[in-house]
Amino acid sequence: MKTDMAQQETKTALEQVKQYHEQTKHEFNRYARSLGHLDWANQPNPFRRFDGAPLTALPHLTLDEDPLSPPYESLFHPHSIPSQPITLNTLSRFFEYGLSLTAWKAYNGTSWALRSNPSSGNLHPTEGYVFCRSLSQLELKPGLYHYAPKEHALEHRWALPPELAQSVLQGIPSEGFLVGLTSIHWREAWKYGERAFRYCQHDIGHAIGTLRIAAATLGWNLLVLSGTTDETIARLLGLTRPQDFPQAEREYPELLAAVWRGDFHPPPTLTLAFPDPEDSVLSSGEWKGTANRLSKDEPVLWEIIDTVTDASWKSSQEPERMAFHAPTAPTSEREGIRPEPLAGHIIHQRRSAVAFDGRTSLPADRFFTMLQRIMPRGGLPLPDRPMPWDAIPWEPTIHLVLFLHRIDGLPPGLYWLNRNPEHRDIPLFKSAMHEQFVWSTPEACPSNLPLYLLEEGNAQNLAKQLSCGQDIAGDSAFALGMVAEFDDRLETFGPWFYKRLFWETGLIGQVLYLEAEAAGIRSTGIGCFFDDPVHRVLGFHPQTKWQSLYHFTVGGPLDDGRLTTLPPYGPHVT
Ligand SMILES: Cc1cc2nc3c(=O)[nH]c(=O)nc-3n(C[C@H](O)[C@H](O)[C@H](O)COP(=O)(O)O)c2cc1C
Repeated sequence: MKTDMAQQETKTALEQVKQYHEQTKHEFNRYARSLGHLDWANQPNPFRRFDGAPLTALPHLTLDEDPLSPPYESLFHPHSIPSQPITLNTLSRFFEYGLSLTAWKAYNGTSWALRSNPSSGNLHPTEGYVFCRSLSQLELKPGLYHYAPKEHALEHRWALPPELAQSVLQGIPSEGFLVGLTSIHWREAWKYGERAFRYCQHDIGHAIGTLRIAAATLGWNLLVLSGTTDETIARLLGLTRPQDFPQAEREYPELLAAVWRGDFHPPPTLTLAFPDPEDSVLSSGEWKGTANRLSKDEPVLWEIIDTVTDASWKSSQEPERMAFHAPTAPTSEREGIRPEPLAGHIIHQRRSAVAFDGRTSLPADRFFTMLQRIMPRGGLPLPDRPMPWDAIPWEPTIHLVLFLHRIDGLPPGLYWLNRNPEHRDIPLFKSAMHEQFVWSTPEACPSNLPLYLLEEGNAQNLAKQLSCGQDIAGDSAFALGMVAEFDDRLETFGPWFYKRLFWETGLIGQVLYLEAEAAGIRSTGIGCFFDDPVHRVLGFHPQTKWQSLYHFTVGGPLDDGRLTTLPPYGPHVT
């Protein structure tokens, strides 16, 4: 039972989270607060390093090297991918597909790196870590490592005796390890001011996607340990050691995820638990390295970001509700999977479109497949949910409003996708939105896809206007907004669930990024949109406490021929 004081604290934190969300909305007549100009002299370095931490280079593998990159299609037939042993090569591939550089772009004397994971403004607030035990085939000493994407290497932050590393990972399957993610808010706040905290969380959602998909290419599972406290994450990742960050901008804990081999046969019920590491463990072994400073001057302080960071801090350790059982799906699914394209090719070639041609259309059946891939099948037990939806252990809470511009066989207009048909029905949505919406099922739509036409008509200008006037929302084949059951989820779980709402949207975005590439077109995340005007278009009643959190657009790209593209690694990188 929560005490009165604890209840009051939760209520205050809830109000602060909602206040942050309100205050960082873009309106037609007012953008969320930021500096209003870019202070180039103080631009943060996108690469964190820990000076003095020993560096282990990860091997650069070609696509054909062992383990072979599986066909892209096989990612959605998980039992078709043989489970690889955990070695330096496979760990290298995991980080390559999850967080590594994929190219350098150059223009007019400046160059910048792109990565497997996209990021709002290409500012990359997300840092990655791995915590491993002694594994027979892994030539790495046990402990905590920070991933350095520019070097594609691991920095050994914390070396500890094998038995202690094993004790930290006692709740994690034996053929497995932990991956951790943090955010450096300042990297996004430098450009976007108060709205930056939202973008950091979107980026975490995208990184959950890249890492889950990277694990899938190796026949591994990945599950976000959502019941863990933020304090535990911070302690394990060394963020509570001020002596290692003397001049450096702060990193904030986001998540730990367990990664383990898919051919590990769990007992009928396996609970993945991760308890707080004891002080005696944390002070054992040796911590190494000092975090580099990213900006010349002190970060600009945006007080409301600190407030929402504290208010959404997860201090409760929920009983882990992640009972596992052996998946029931058949094990031989290899037949009929298209051999091309390879998953590795799709992951490497993923880019955000900077402009669309305003012409390319998408066949309806391809569009339906894309939507199928973002359906989490929330009614199923976790291990039976489709990849990557088996990575986040909560019920789906994001639905889509779609602006269809050019889908062959479907009339243009406004549509709705119910991503949780197992628990949400159409009368609920109908009663929340404009009365004139028709709620008809498109004829060609597969029966297991809960897609509804709301209103026919050309929605190109509307989508563009709502997306801060960006042409990419109107010139595409379709655009969409991701609508969260906002107040209901925060009130049910607590203010810490705020971040998870954004993670789910980022994960939807990551699936769409790869799906667009696989369909021969391209897509772009849209963090800049006018919040309440979107709600007015849908006619949300005042008591409908839903919020559109993230927009997205998919279409035929126009390339910027002025840019030079260089490989991600090589002598040209200094
Ligand atoms: C959360 C998020 C929000 C974004 N918002 C916008 C946007 O509003 N407009 C835009 O043109 N691109 C947007 N992008 C695309 C980024 O600018 C792009 O991911 C970044 O430049 C890196 O390029 P890449 O995706 O090709 O790796 C967004 C990306 C993310 C992940």
